[in-house]
Amino acid sequence: MGEGVLKASTPGRLLDLFSEAGLSREGRSLLLSGVSLTEIADRVGTPAYVYNAESIRDRYRSLDAALARTPHRICFAVKANSNLAVLRILQELGAGADIVSSGELARALAAGFRPERIVFSGVGKTGDELKAAVKAGIGHLNVESREELELLGRIAENEKPAQVKVGIRVNPGVTTDTHPYISTGKSGIKFGLPTDQVVPAAEYVMRHPRLELTTLAMHLGSQLVNTEPFVQGISHLLELVARLRRAGVSTLEVIDIGGGLGIRYAEEHAIDPDEFAAAVLPLLESAGLTVYLEPGRFLVGSAGVLLTRVLYRKHSGGKEFVVVDAGMNDLVRPSHYQAYHEIVELEERGRPPGRIDVVGPVCETGDFLALERMLPGLAAGDGLAVLGAGAYGFVMSSNYNSRPRAAEVIVEDGQWWVARPREAVEDLFQSERMWPSTTTGS
Ligand code: LLP
Repeated sequence: MGEGVLKASTPGRLLDLFSEAGLSREGRSLLLSGVSLTEIADRVGTPAYVYNAESIRDRYRSLDAALARTPHRICFAVKANSNLAVLRILQELGAGADIVSSGELARALAAGFRPERIVFSGVGKTGDELKAAVKAGIGHLNVESREELELLGRIAENEKPAQVKVGIRVNPGVTTDTHPYISTGKSGIKFGLPTDQVVPAAEYVMRHPRLELTTLAMHLGSQLVNTEPFVQGISHLLELVARLRRAGVSTLEVIDIGGGLGIRYAEEHAIDPDEFAAAVLPLLESAGLTVYLEPGRFLVGSAGVLLTRVLYRKHSGGKEFVVVDAGMNDLVRPSHYQAYHEIVELEERGRPPGRIDVVGPVCETGDFLALERMLPGLAAGDGLAVLGAGAYGFVMSSNYNSRPRAAEVIVEDGQWWVARPREAVEDLFQSERMWPSTTTGS
C-alpha cells in the first residue's frame, strides 16, 4: 500500500502480476486467459470487472497442496468477492465458505455450498441472522461477544436444533503491519473476545444443553505479508486450547486461524503458501485439531482486473490528469486505503510516458485510482486494466452519484461470459416511492 511512495512499474514486478493473474500480451493487446480484454471492453462496456477462473483455481490448489499434510479446510471469505460464479468455482474445488451476513449465507447456499461447510463470522450478527444460520444448520458460528453468545443460546433453546456448533473468536492482541482499517487482531479494537473472557464463555457453552464449543478462532487482519503475526496468534490460540482443555472442554475440533494472506499489488513480498505452511503447520499439528483458514484476497485478488476507459485528459495546476470512467464507487480501495493498484494499457500504443493522476468521474477530490503515476501517454478512448481488482472490488462498489454498478465477466480457457450484467439506470430507483403508497398505507 502507499500511493506516491512507489516507483514506476518495473518489468519484473509486472511479470509477477501478469503471471498471477493469467495476463499476457499478444502483440500490443492485453489478454486474460487468452481472451482479448479490448474485445470484452468493446462488447460489455466499461467499467467492467473480469475474473480469470483458472487463476482462482491455481491459487486454491496451491494453498490446498501446501496444507495437505494436516487435516484442514479452506473456507473462502465470501466478502472478498461474492459473485455466484466465483463462489461456484471455489465450491467445486471443495472449499468451504466464510460468511458475515445472512445475505452472504443466501449467496453461499445459492452457489451450492453445503451448510455444514459454512462458517459464520462477524462482530455484529443480528438475532435474525443467527436464527437463519441455526435453521440452515451451518458448520459453526464464531461468536465475538458474551451478549452474542447468550443470544445464540436463547435462539438455540427456542429453535430446538440438534446441536449448534460454536466457535469463540479470540482477540489475541497481535499487532500487524497492515493498514489500520484492516488490522483486526490487536487489543483495543472491536473484534473478538478478549483472552480473559474466553474461559467463562466456554463454561457458559458447556452448561448449555444445545450449544457445543467446537472451535477457537482468530482473524488478525488483511493483506498480511509476513508470517510472524500468524505464529504469534496461533501460539496464543494454542495456550487457550490448553487452558480450555484443563477447564474440562472436550469438544474442540477446529482451530480457525482466519484469513489475511497478502498478495502482491506492487513491491510487497506476498505470502507464499509453502512458506506459510512451513511457518504455521508445525505449531498447529501439536493441537490435534482440524485447521480452518478463511482466505479471501489470496484466492481471488490477483485473478481480477477492472477495465476502464479514458474519457478526457487535462492539464491543470501544473499537473496532468486523465479522467476515466471508473470511479471510487467502482473501486474504492485507492481512495479509502491509499491502496496501490497497477494500471496497464489494454493496447500498448508506445506513447512517451509521463507522471499522471488517474481520476474518476465522481464529484470528490478523493476519487482517484492512482496519483502521480508514471504511465505511458494516454488519450481519450484508450482502454486500461486496473490489476489486483478481484478482491474487495465489485463487492465494495456503490451507486454513489447514481452510477449503475459495473458488469462482472468470467474468462476461462479462451472463452468469456457475463456473470453479472451492468446495472441498468432503472434498477437504481425502481423500488423508491415519491409519496406514501395508497395501497399499503405505509
Ligand atoms: N475472516 C474474517 C473474519 C475477516 O474479517 C476477513 C476479512 C477475512 C476472513 C478475509 O480476509 P482476507 O483473506 O481477504 O484478507 N476491504 C479491505 C479488506 C477487508 C477485510 C475484512 N475482513 C481491503 O480492500 O483491503
